[in-house]
Amino acid sequence: VITEEKTMEFKQQVVTALQQAIGAQLDARTIAKGIEIPKSSDLGDYAFPTFMLAKIFHKAPQKIAEEIVGKIDQQGFEKVQAVGAYVNFFLDKQSFSRDVLQTILVKGDSYGNANTGHGGNVPIDMSSPNIAKPMSMGHLRSTVIGNSLANILRKIGYNPIKINHLGDWGTQFGKLIVGYKKWGSEADVKADPITNLNKYYVRFHKEDVEHPELDDEAREWFKKLENGDPEAMHLWKWFREISLSEFSHIYDVLGIEFDSYKGEAFYNDKMDAVIQELEEKHLLEESQGAEVVNLDSYNLSPAMIRKSDGASLYMTRDLAAAIYRMNTYNFVQSLYVVGNEQALHFDQLKAVLKEMGDDWADNIHHIAFGLITSGGKKLSTRKGNVILLEGVLKDAVLLAQAQIEAKNPTLKNKDQVAKDVGVGAVVFHDLKNDRMDSFDFNLEEVVRFEGETGPYVQYTNARAQSILRKAAVEIDRDADDLTLTDPEAWNVLKALGDYPAAIERAAKEYEPSVIAKYTLRLAKAFNQYYAHSKILEANAERNARLALVDSVSRVLQNALALLGVNAPSEM
Ligand code: ARG
Repeated sequence: VITEEKTMEFKQQVVTALQQAIGAQLDARTIAKGIEIPKSSDLGDYAFPTFMLAKIFHKAPQKIAEEIVGKIDQQGFEKVQAVGAYVNFFLDKQSFSRDVLQTILVKGDSYGNANTGHGGNVPIDMSSPNIAKPMSMGHLRSTVIGNSLANILRKIGYNPIKINHLGDWGTQFGKLIVGYKKWGSEADVKADPITNLNKYYVRFHKEDVEHPELDDEAREWFKKLENGDPEAMHLWKWFREISLSEFSHIYDVLGIEFDSYKGEAFYNDKMDAVIQELEEKHLLEESQGAEVVNLDSYNLSPAMIRKSDGASLYMTRDLAAAIYRMNTYNFVQSLYVVGNEQALHFDQLKAVLKEMGDDWADNIHHIAFGLITSGGKKLSTRKGNVILLEGVLKDAVLLAQAQIEAKNPTLKNKDQVAKDVGVGAVVFHDLKNDRMDSFDFNLEEVVRFEGETGPYVQYTNARAQSILRKAAVEIDRDADDLTLTDPEAWNVLKALGDYPAAIERAAKEYEPSVIAKYTLRLAKAFNQYYAHSKILEANAERNARLALVDSVSRVLQNALALLGVNAPSEM
């Protein structure tokens, strides 16, 4: 049986062997950094280029590679070879195969867990839609990226805290109140809250072009709100409540929960302390009647802290929120999953905190992401050009339903599976792209069962599950012969062994796409294996083949769960 120490550290095995051969001249970290994964399997599973040793040993890299091979302890490897300036390592397929399969079958869902985070708190500011406006595809990105990062960080030992920093405060509420009082009615708002509230807001922005006095009224109402005027407060509370209950539907569909809904309004009474501190530290400057922090030395435009009419700003609230999070969580990292168009805002936020002497601002990271466009056009709530998220999710489920109906009409739980597949498809599509990439949203493409889609990965898992059902045997995971050495199996085994490294990389780069791409790689490798092998055939390798199928299914499920995607066992 496998021990804790005997984890998937095959790379470590290579590092150790190299370290012994090279000696103290090069430390283990540098060796580990130098190790590459060859493009072609003819060149082994790992390769170490020796160029960096040429200066140290005053010899040609080719010569050094040969000498290392001469000295290296080959035990535990199929072979170790010098090819040019490289030392190529071929893992021992039999023991690798046994180690990987046993580890996964014994560890189950804890395969890939690590304690990198030592329980450190990581608040994740995510989703954070604006009250009285529809939740957009951009908010969807923030929600699913944030949720996946939380899962990934939890898996490696951090304690993520998911915060929905609702946009429930600011001058736009003045505009909304004016719009509602002029053009709205209680009945309309009750009938379809967000659509109608957003209508007033959109109309306000159309009409204030010709009627700038509307803006004065809106400012007046926001001031009333900031001062706790009962009518303003009453309307604001009502708008917030009905908006939040609509957002909750979407969160339910996505299966996402938050640890906190402390939005911008929560910081209303915490801003004075921030402004006072800025004053005491002589950081506030006047600029055209407003108060700003000069950020010339950071090469940034000044951060506006208070408007000329005394109204607070998005920035002021974010300063209060950042400080509150530090005081409350003593975080090791503080993440903000917000579109890239707010990059300047977060640069300024960090710079102001640094000016205040808060060195922990270095642990604040803006997790930016690109735009989702539709037919090449930018989406915006102001102009009313939005893809409504709820509609997208509904349509995705309908498309999934149609495909299931065509492929597997007798399937049980069709409705639940259609939901898992439709919603999972949208989430997966969003996460498989590098987060900074912008992409155009095309629903038909997203919900396809073939190609690089969520349904393809889900289908692969369902296929594995179906094989296991047909086999209907208990897999002997302690068997000595859990060894598969044919090339198709080897690709699957290598992918399985790479899961822990993929998780670490996803966490380090704050990139759920690393996990999404990983699932595609594993699914492809498995489907090739499936096409080449008679898995259920009764012979000596059957137990090992089933162990492979079971391992693939477990890892796919675990990885999809990290993305926030369900994995139905039949589809
Ligand atoms: N409500 C903002 C928006 O929709 C996003 C808020 C992001 N979080 C923050 N702490 N600024 O654009």
